[in-house]
Amino acid sequence: MFSNMHLPRYERIWLTIGIASLFIFLIILGTLAIGLGLQPPGHMKTVPPEQVRTSAPFNNPALVQIGPNEYKATMVAQMFSYLPGELEVPAGSTVHFEITSPDVVHGLYIPNTNVNIMVIPGHIAEYTYTFKHAGDYLMLCHEYCGAGHQVMMGKLKVV
Ligand code: CUA
Repeated sequence: MFSNMHLPRYERIWLTIGIASLFIFLIILGTLAIGLGLQPPGHMKTVPPEQVRTSAPFNNPALVQIGPNEYKATMVAQMFSYLPGELEVPAGSTVHFEITSPDVVHGLYIPNTNVNIMVIPGHIAEYTYTFKHAGDYLMLCHEYCGAGHQVMMGKLKVV
């Protein structure tokens, strides 16, 4: 490297080390990005906000059983409620949430679980959670979305 340049030997060495460490850094970064799947969480699927209410599946928000102990909750977060506003599943059920918004940014937060979803218009957020313990859970909007933000909530019953 650099043998045709008239550089002092130590400068060649340092240049080589500098370039080599840059490549090592890029390789580590690339390996991490691919290996750990570093990408925006969820938000990979999209739907135009103005089509949410009229096109499948969000024109018919519902909880559907898709397997033994497995459910899909297709939901709409809107000013200032959830559709559907009440869900009920047996204890031990795994629920695949898919949720979007036709208006502004909302949230879906279920206290005492790991469900904590940001609902952005134009994006379909997905999250899967297994409800092991029976009880009444609240579905709360935790993104300020306007005058009715405080009353925007739903219920999830695990029986
Ligand atoms: Cu919806 Cu806050």
